[in-house]
Amino acid sequence: MRVLGIETSCDETAVSLIEASGDFGADFKFRILGNALFSQTITHAEYGGVVPNLAKREHGKNLVPLLEQVLNESGIRAGKHTDISVYSDDLRDMLAREPELYAQLSEFLRKHEKPEIDCIAVTVGPGLEPALWVGINFARALSEVWDLPVVAVNHMEGHVVMSLMEIRPIGNHSSILQNTRIDGMLSKNIEFPALALLISGGHTELVLMREWMKYEVIGTTRDDAVGEAFDKVARLLGLPYPGGPHISRLAEDARKKNIKANFSLPRPMLHEDNLDFSFSGLKTAVLRIVESNSPLSEEMKSMIAREFEDTVADVLVEKTLRAVDAYGARTVIVGGGVSANSHIRAQLASQLSTVNCKPLTPPIELATDNALMIALAGYFRAISGDYSDPDTLRADGNLKLA
Ligand code: KG4
Ligand code: ZN
Repeated sequence: MRVLGIETSCDETAVSLIEASGDFGADFKFRILGNALFSQTITHAEYGGVVPNLAKREHGKNLVPLLEQVLNESGIRAGKHTDISVYSDDLRDMLAREPELYAQLSEFLRKHEKPEIDCIAVTVGPGLEPALWVGINFARALSEVWDLPVVAVNHMEGHVVMSLMEIRPIGNHSSILQNTRIDGMLSKNIEFPALALLISGGHTELVLMREWMKYEVIGTTRDDAVGEAFDKVARLLGLPYPGGPHISRLAEDARKKNIKANFSLPRPMLHEDNLDFSFSGLKTAVLRIVESNSPLSEEMKSMIAREFEDTVADVLVEKTLRAVDAYGARTVIVGGGVSANSHIRAQLASQLSTVNCKPLTPPIELATDNALMIALAGYFRAISGDYSDPDTLRADGNLKLA
């Protein structure tokens, strides 16, 4: 089955086309036919975070060029003329709020015939609703003109599914995202009950999976998400958005140079007997240190970055170990943008090994948002018969996994 994935939940516009077969288990395999992503971080950087209406506008501009790139890469594009006049009123209505997208898509559809794909998977939440709507309306329009079924995908399920994959690049390529010749399958190390630690810009959750695609949220953040904390602390240190990778780089540097903090940050929620998180107090503690040491020396910035990263890793590891113990988990699935963090990965791997548990992490380049994860999650939903009526699709900024 060929699945076209569309992701516009935040500040990444992404389109991916996969060919997949098999069910949950050893017979599952997929190949990336085309994968394209445009990151809007430069647009949002000057505001220190994602501006929903700017994100929406950028998605509207970028979706058609990315789709064209993906179809070109895949080699399955049919270049024949299509008569779209019968659809133009519907398309205009569907894309009434995205005039630029309407213009580009009409032109694109006039030039290209329906490619040989079987279904469209689109993120419907959680995320920024104005941004989500652009992808949804794009999917509806394609579904109408190409007469294809649509699968609604939960973005967080996309992160989970991405971490379950074992990816095998074919040939010698430096970047997965620019390498269309990739095969993948499900990791052999998945055992239930499994636990997912989802750590991103919008979420920090511990999720219990007793079987495929069934979720129970057992812990969540009471305030900021962990990625948000990385971004806010980065801002306090004068580092650009998104801050996670910058903090990580400074912290690594501090470890190499043996720069240790002469203060310690609070480990929030560790003394409470639950699986929830809280990161806003940590950010406030950093703010106090920044204020009392201003202007910050480079060494002080490194100290803060290292101590902050250590603190976050300690809290994530400790709560994950508690959840593993409480639910007898055999596998820990780590997903979301913050799972790109090498220190957190290393700490989780070393601590989980003491309880015979193995973390499953995505390839670093696929830890942050992308459309491959949406196409993959969409495939599993499609083979379960979980299609949606395109006209009833709604963006749900707070969509839950369970
Ligand atoms: O999953 P994602 O791309 O978007 C959301 O669904 O939110 O996650 C983005 C978040 C940002 O907060 C970013 O700072 C963080 O992931 N992030 C990192 C790293 N790379 C990205 N945080 C810590 N260390 C990293 N290496
Ligand atoms: Zn995400």
